[in-house]
Formats: sequence, C-alpha cells, structure tokens
Amino acid sequence: MADNKCEDCSHDDTVDIPDDHPAKGLGDDYDPNVMKEKFDEWSKTYDQDIEKWNYNGPKRVAESMSKIIPDKSATILDLGCCTGLVGEELSKVGFHNVDGVDISDECIKLAKGKNIYRNILNEDLSPDKTLSFGTGSYDAVILVGAGMFLDIHGMKEWLRITKTDGYTVIGVMESETTSDSVKPVVDEYLSQGLMEKVHEDIVEDYFQGKSGSIVYFRPSRK
Ligand SMILES: C[S@@+](CC[C@H](N)C(=O)[O-])C[C@H]1O[C@@H](n2cnc3c(N)ncnc32)[C@H](O)[C@@H]1O
Repeated sequence: MADNKCEDCSHDDTVDIPDDHPAKGLGDDYDPNVMKEKFDEWSKTYDQDIEKWNYNGPKRVAESMSKIIPDKSATILDLGCCTGLVGEELSKVGFHNVDGVDISDECIKLAKGKNIYRNILNEDLSPDKTLSFGTGSYDAVILVGAGMFLDIHGMKEWLRITKTDGYTVIGVMESETTSDSVKPVVDEYLSQGLMEKVHEDIVEDYFQGKSGSIVYFRPSRK
C-alpha cells in the first residue's frame, strides 16, 4: 500500500502515510514475528485508517468474485484476513462460507467479533510453513491487499489447498503486479506449470484512486 499520486489525472487521492507506519510494508526486513506485533498494534485503528486512506480493495475483490463465482455457497479462505474487511464485503455480495487466516491475534479477535467468518485460524503464511488445511479444501483461496506484507512464495501452499476447479486469487494495486515482490514469483510458478492464469479484472479506484488488479489462478496438479 504505497502512497502514490495519480500520474494520468489532475486529482490526487493520496493521504500521507508516515514512513515508519506498518502500512508501508516491511520490505527486505520481513519477519513474521515483527509483522504480527505491528498488526496487533495497528488493529486498534486499522478500519478507521483504511477508510481515511480510501482503500477499496476488499469491496473491489468481492464485486469481482461475485461475477466470477456465481455460487454464493462457494467455500472461500481469506488469507491475511486482518480485521475482517474482506469478509464483510464478501458477505454483502452473498458469500456465506468464508474462513480466515491471520498471524495477529488482535486482528483475529476483531474479525471474529464481526460474526461473518465461519472460522478464523492463527496460521503463518510464510513459504516454509505447511497450512493445516487439506489439499483441495476451498473453491477460492484469496489474498487481498497483502502482497507487500508477506512473501507470496507461500502461494505454492495456497494453490495446494485450492480445489482443482477453483481459484487462487490475488488482489493488489495494478502497479504491484510488476513489482519485485509479486511478478517474479508469479512468473516462476507459471513457468513451472504449478498454475495457470485464468482471468484478470482491472478495477478502478482500488487504493487512493489507483487501479487494482484481481488475478485468478487455477492450480495445476501433476
Ligand atoms: C494489510 S493487511 C491485509 C488485510 C486485509 N486482507 C484487507 O485487505 O484489509 C495484511 C495482513 O496480513 C497478515 N500477515 C502478515 N504476515 C502474515 C503471515 N506470515 N501469516 C499470516 N498472516 C500474515 C497481517 O497480520 C495482516 O492482518
């Protein structure tokens, strides 16, 4: 969630975010334990900050998924669910079998309080960890607005727990699709035949007036 200005238009939806704020991501210093502490703290103001900062990722992803997955009883796992904003938006468009995973207990407490998720587990999405879910557990496994908050090499696991006819979905700012944290991993997994890209929605006003990319991958199991 970097604070970029709109290059192609005269308006500026940017709100200054302090450099030491966890919203800037942890970059090369990524450590799940530090991330957990930062989000335990940020959880207290996360929903208010996000509203102020004009972040519409959860709403845009829910709108897109509603079109791509017409069956609202589809099972969905929200990775890095934080305080539950994605769950709230998925619930508004009718999805009602949504689970969540996050590393921050404080975020999980707040998300649980919204009574939207079936279940929320504290699990580490780092690539060296195996998630507790069985192979092919979910119709959709989704990561929204968290591309710069964790190592998306973990996607190998997310593909494993996605049904073979389901989707592993990543929602990021459009500019992030070519970033060092996202593009090399996606290219690597596509070239290794671990997944295929089946759909991409480019959406307006994802974050601070900037467009977003919601990409749908299908696992290829050998
Ligand atoms: C910016 S928030 C995204 C929240 C939500 N998806 C949204 O769009 O509002 C990133 C979330 O990822 C979680 N997270 C970061 N690293 C993690 C890890 N290794 N395992 C599980 N969750 C992690 C953080 O605790 C935080 O709740």
